[in-house]
Amino acid sequence: MPDKGSCTVIVGCQWGDEGKGKIVDVLAEQVDIVARYQGGANAGHTVHVGDDQFVLHQIPSGVLHAGRRCLLGNGVVLDVQQFFEEYDALLKRGIDIEGRVGVSYRAQLLMPYHRFLDKAVELAADTKIGTTGRGIGPAYEDKAGRRGVRVADLLSPNRLDKRINAAKDRVATRLEELGAGTEELNEAMERTLALSERLLAIATDVGPEISGALRSGRNVLLEGAQGTALDLDHGTYPFVTSSNTTAGSAATGSGIGPTQITDVIGIVKAYTTRVGEGPLPSSMAPQMDEHVRMLGGEFGATTGRPRRCGWFDSVLTRFASQVNGLTGIAVTKLDVLDTLDEVKIATAYKTADGRTREFFPADTWSLAEVEPVYETMPGWHSSTCDVRRIEDLPRNARAYLDRIEELTNAPVCFVSVGTKRSQIITVD
Ligand code: GDP
Ligand code: IMO
Ligand code: MG
Repeated sequence: MPDKGSCTVIVGCQWGDEGKGKIVDVLAEQVDIVARYQGGANAGHTVHVGDDQFVLHQIPSGVLHAGRRCLLGNGVVLDVQQFFEEYDALLKRGIDIEGRVGVSYRAQLLMPYHRFLDKAVELAADTKIGTTGRGIGPAYEDKAGRRGVRVADLLSPNRLDKRINAAKDRVATRLEELGAGTEELNEAMERTLALSERLLAIATDVGPEISGALRSGRNVLLEGAQGTALDLDHGTYPFVTSSNTTAGSAATGSGIGPTQITDVIGIVKAYTTRVGEGPLPSSMAPQMDEHVRMLGGEFGATTGRPRRCGWFDSVLTRFASQVNGLTGIAVTKLDVLDTLDEVKIATAYKTADGRTREFFPADTWSLAEVEPVYETMPGWHSSTCDVRRIEDLPRNARAYLDRIEELTNAPVCFVSVGTKRSQIITVD
């Protein structure tokens, strides 16, 4: 029996920070459940409601719509302390979330020692990744190494003690090797474990809950974190995060079957940004980089670091379209380009040996050396912030979107022209 409800994946198609939070918030109006399927508090999803700004790290971006159920799937690594800080801060700001948030019994717990390890490893590394310092890599390492602690382990204090004591010994040795201090670690562990009861009270079987909802005709959004170029397999390895960010993992990380997914919407910024280490082939020249960073407010929502800016890279978004099986794209932050004289799109890369490639290469190191082939298009010198219908956009802005659509191989279904909920164009 096919599901009666729709299940849409929202996936970042660049290096994260594409505006996923804004689009999820807008689409949450039409759904019943919003679920995160991977990542952890490395995500920073910004949502504006009226004059208020919310930055969500772990709780799905649908939470600002009253009554929406918000779930964290098994694919997520959950920093319990950070999670409840976010939860309580939302309550304090008048968001009624009691009873609406659920966490998978199968989700991995991100422990304070993962954060300590992340920072110590990064400090000692020759090849720095520029992580968010949220413990993501070490938590997924423990998951894959079958040493992790899951929410379900909290059901048995004895088993939990055993697993945590084993981890503590391992971590102490590793931190000592790295020359890192462990002050405050014990206290942080106690604070985390003291939240066990509270966490168990909202633990649930996320996969069956989503499947049941879809069967009975309710609509679901699966909210990705990070972006395709940060995917552990498909991104610019090793300058990636430690989870699969792409749409394939939306099923695995939420506990439903792939055939239950009805649509995959790729979020692309109208230009490109990157925070952390690793190549950005379509980097803008320093002056333009600074200019666009200021126009777009391109500073990390989790770490506050300046984001590097680049032109729209269709080599990457075409690859993202293929690897995610996109059924549509949402182009965000078009308004940021409103005042530019011209805009560029990278359509191919010229490699060191003079060849032109149209595919995103697996060899990350070669990516640092490629020269993008650009198409230059005239700017539109007109504000798009108040436009609500695609046909009312300036001609040059439409031409730019048409070219993005053509090069990305996916239809534009939304265009975002500002941070507000109302600043969205829906394309039929
Ligand atoms: P996410 O991680 O993909 O959710 O994106 P972030 O929240 O980290 O970064 C996107 C930033 O752009 C946030 O500050 C948003 O408020 C902002 N934003 C989203 N859509 C638009 C838009 O269409 N125009 C403008 N000017 N800002 C936007
Ligand atoms: P959202 O969901 C942008 C980057 C980090 C670093 C690399 C690895 O807001 O789009 P990690 O802490 O995950 O081990 O860091 O990935 N990174 C992000 N960049 N947006 C994000 O999330 C990111 N999450 C991680 O800067 O380069
Ligand atoms: Mg972000």
